[in-house]
Amino acid sequence: MKRIYGILAFLFVSIIPIVILTSCNTQEFPVDYEQLSSEERIVIRFSHVVGEDTPKGMAARKFAELVKERSNGYVEVQVFSNGTLYKDGEEMNALTRGDIQMIAPAISKLTDTVPEVSVFDLPYAFYTLDEVHDYVKSDIGMKLTDKLKDHNLFVVGLWDSGFKQISNSKHPIHHYSDLSGLKMRIMPSDILAKQFSVLDADAKRIEFNTVFNQLQKGNVDGQENTLSNITSKNLYSLQDYLTISNHGYLGYFLLFNLEFWYSLPEDVQQLLTETLKDVEQWEWQLTKEINKEKLSDIEQCECLQLHYLSEQDKEEWEVKLEPVYDYYREHYNNQFIEALPKFDPE
Ligand code: LMR
Repeated sequence: MKRIYGILAFLFVSIIPIVILTSCNTQEFPVDYEQLSSEERIVIRFSHVVGEDTPKGMAARKFAELVKERSNGYVEVQVFSNGTLYKDGEEMNALTRGDIQMIAPAISKLTDTVPEVSVFDLPYAFYTLDEVHDYVKSDIGMKLTDKLKDHNLFVVGLWDSGFKQISNSKHPIHHYSDLSGLKMRIMPSDILAKQFSVLDADAKRIEFNTVFNQLQKGNVDGQENTLSNITSKNLYSLQDYLTISNHGYLGYFLLFNLEFWYSLPEDVQQLLTETLKDVEQWEWQLTKEINKEKLSDIEQCECLQLHYLSEQDKEEWEVKLEPVYDYYREHYNNQFIEALPKFDPE
């Protein structure tokens, strides 16, 4: 009898608490977030440099809302837009230091870290956004994004800004030779610099938040960007001519600090991955709509002289720009070019 009491007492003190604890742990995000301090919650600081009403700005807000809702506030994404926390050129260091946990820089801004990613900067590398999406998700795309892991950067998604167009204040750009002698703002990428040097233009690397000032001062005559950036940063107000060239892709890798990502509980990683997948689809659609809407606004405002490159013009530009591909092949790795959809239709 004494032995039975002994066994029951053992069960009571050792097994039952384990069962209770385990069931608490498996319960998902049980607590109302308002009762938790920021130390008890998981806080993800997400910094970016564009306006709130751009595809990236809107997707960042959507991501934060969904994460809050799906985790009952246990995970909080704090979004800092417009470079208010860290500017271009600062955000990458802040992320690798761990001062912030998430950024979404233009891929061109990662080319100093992993030069091979400048395959996305090659002119006319992609003709549609779907081609870009497929390339990024393919084995070769994953091989490329994995390279960022060596730099404590983990790619968790791709958001579009769209295809770039060319604006300037000097004269209409109809033929590529019209770019000759113009001072053009670029993002920091050797491939973008090469693109303009092949066209005999003078490329200047300028941070996004100072492009307006530099155009205003006349330090540059023009720039290339997507319509949502050209309009949201009011760049068009300083420019007289806009050429719809769709000559290059501008998109963002969503990056987490890798160590931070590994420190997250598995269920939180899963929640973030699923939410990012949903927001990615939403953002891709939104980008198409916003750029279409901005084009129609520009057509109607008649504030810029618009020119559309014809399909034949684009083919001529593409041929003229072939030396940019040679430069990439020579300095980086041809396998990333060979896998582009235009060379590898599979
Ligand atoms: C730019 O510098 O033009 C863009 O990268 C800004 C952005 O993040 O879209």
